[in-house]
Amino acid sequence: MDYKNILLHVEAPVGTITINRPDKLNALNAAVMTELSGALREMEADDTVRVIVLTGAGEKAFVAGADIAELAKMKPFSGRKDSSFGQEILFQIEQLAKPVVAAINGYALGGGCELALACDVRFASEKAKIGLPEVTLGIIPGYGGTQRLGRIVGKGRAMELVLSGEPIDAAEAYRIGLVNKVAPPAELAKTVREWAEKLAARGPLALRLAKAAVQKSLEVDLRDGCELESAYFGMLASTADMREGMTAFLEKRKPVYKGE
Ligand code: COA
Repeated sequence: MDYKNILLHVEAPVGTITINRPDKLNALNAAVMTELSGALREMEADDTVRVIVLTGAGEKAFVAGADIAELAKMKPFSGRKDSSFGQEILFQIEQLAKPVVAAINGYALGGGCELALACDVRFASEKAKIGLPEVTLGIIPGYGGTQRLGRIVGKGRAMELVLSGEPIDAAEAYRIGLVNKVAPPAELAKTVREWAEKLAARGPLALRLAKAAVQKSLEVDLRDGCELESAYFGMLASTADMREGMTAFLEKRKPVYKGE
């Protein structure tokens, strides 16, 4: 795929996808979303990539939202279609077989916040501002924000953020559990990389099924979720990775996982 709005960088075992429209604070238009979907597929298919990092180009923004110039032209049916289209790409992140980390290097507003919410964990720069300002534009979040935010921070906090439309800073986002870690701006990339490398040393099949199981935990009841967990647990018992992990422990050495 030919990318105009996205940068792809693989430094094994970490693959980084950078939304690259800094002059528009990396706002998401249809072209960016299509390219993002292609980039995610490419990173998923690359066996040297164990963990994916998603970030924004420039000093100011992760993603400052869906592109308001595009949004301004929407009609009821096209609005619904655009919302569903974006939602599918965020589901693609959740369903991806590798962990996806959001490195929130600045504004994460509207669609940018929603994009981060679909990632598995969120690391933020101290100068990040995160929020869902859609109601200030006369709309509501359309990339799953009304549904995912409450699942992460609880219904009360989600209501506060969605109804007020006011952004919060990184410290508050950390306090309410919206982001997992906060780092000084100059150290964000390094902090994310170190964490990603730590994950990359784990068994990739275990990471894949652990992610899928935790994803499902918010969608199914406890008994069905536990049944799924047992099935995944059993499935992993058939892998060379499991044998390697346990043998390495017993031999007091570091495991070398092949994803088999
Ligand atoms: N869609 C389209 N363009 C956007 C954008 C968005 N969501 N967010 C920023 N931009 C553009 C601006 O229009 C401006 O373009 P221009 O230089 O051609 O005029 C450029 O990015 C820089 O933004 P600017 O507003 O000048 O930067 P700022 O530092 O003064 O303010 C923000 C930063 C994030 C507070 C402000 O850009 C903003 O409020 N953006 C919209 C956020 C939003 O409502 N997102 C949700 C959309 S549903």
